[in-house]
Amino acid sequence: MTKSLLVTGGAGYIGSHTLLELLKAGYKPVVFDNFSNSCAEVLSRVEELSGCAIDVIEGDIRDKSALVRLFEARRLANEPVEAVVHFAALKAVGESVEKPTEYYDNNVGGTLSLLKAMDTCGIRKLVFSSSATVYGEPLRLPYTEDHPFAPTNPYGHTKAMVEQILKDWCHASDERSAVALRYFNPIGAHPSGRIGEAPQGRPNNLFPFITQVAVGKRDKLSVFGDDYETVDGTGVRDYLHVVDLAIGHVLAVAYMASGNRGFQGINLGTGRGTSVLELARTFERVTGRPVPYEILPRRPGDIAQAWADPTVAAALLGWRANRDIEEMCIDGWRWQSQNPDGYQSVVKK
Ligand code: NAD
Ligand code: WQD
Repeated sequence: MTKSLLVTGGAGYIGSHTLLELLKAGYKPVVFDNFSNSCAEVLSRVEELSGCAIDVIEGDIRDKSALVRLFEARRLANEPVEAVVHFAALKAVGESVEKPTEYYDNNVGGTLSLLKAMDTCGIRKLVFSSSATVYGEPLRLPYTEDHPFAPTNPYGHTKAMVEQILKDWCHASDERSAVALRYFNPIGAHPSGRIGEAPQGRPNNLFPFITQVAVGKRDKLSVFGDDYETVDGTGVRDYLHVVDLAIGHVLAVAYMASGNRGFQGINLGTGRGTSVLELARTFERVTGRPVPYEILPRRPGDIAQAWADPTVAAALLGWRANRDIEEMCIDGWRWQSQNPDGYQSVVKK
């Protein structure tokens, strides 16, 4: 029987790429999304790429009864939901400082509502989108999973809090399993160029800013600081291809299905750091597009450098990142150049 999965936030950047990999692996994902940071066009494109119809329910994860209705409907249709892949969250660090209650309500309150609905319906497996941001200022690098948590903003606190909730949730019953995947910096897009990252307004993150400069939507890149103790003074991060990240979710679902119980936090990164200028220069080299930049002061709250120790992901999930920075740039540029306004131009037609 095809295994049915609930994918919260499945219309988002990482969710949509994961849908494709889940479909490829033979799962039947049901998307639950309130489209607060996405649009339905994404899902049409996933259907076009996969050749599979996708069930979509528009709803908010804070609406427990809507989730219970969905789980019950699946059970009655003889396609019970086996596990939940939980992406739905607000993710802008700066906005979380300005609107902390919205972030705690959506990210923490939303997850509690989801877990309660799962408990009501006897669903016991969950993959959670956590973030390397839970670690905060590195005491040592690379970050290993036992690095202490010290988030520096409300968004990061919501991820750390949900991890604690999941630990306690698993502790309360040995039937339960939860995998918190701690993503480093996902960038790039599906190689088809049909789906990718479509930030609303001015991008907060480096890579979509670079692609928007290259496509002519922005004049130049602002490099936040060139006086860090790094290879060239600019910030260093562990960028990973979004398709590699998506595959990590398929392996996490399989890990739980094969009988592993309890809570597990797992880093998903390449284990390699790349500076802001190295990323911009690689992008220019492989795409042939110039990325003019200016140096600005450091961005408050930024750390100098961060990269993962991905050993646990390899040992437990059999996962490793296979796509390099060049491929991330080529695929990200294909998406941006073919969809200069993201999904918007199509939606407006
Ligand atoms: P995204 O904003 O593109 O996707 C999130 C999706 O969740 C969107 O479709 C949004 O409409 C939906 N959503 C938000 N709140 C909801 C709610 N209350 N009910 C239903 N749907 C809701 O973000 P993304 O980049 O795809 O991130 C996915 C997950 O990964 C998030 O949990 C994010 O915090 C986490 N994460 C992202 C990154 C990154 O750099 N993109 C890094 C680490 C962790
Ligand atoms: C990367 C580097 C910047 C933009 C954030 C969140 C984290 C996670 C991923 C969700 C840094 C520099 C950036 C720009 C720049 N999200 N930069 N000019 O800060 O590592 O992580 O996104 O979980 O929680 O904090 O990623 O892409 O914003 O920055 O120079 O316009 O690029 O200073 O060195 P970050 P980023």
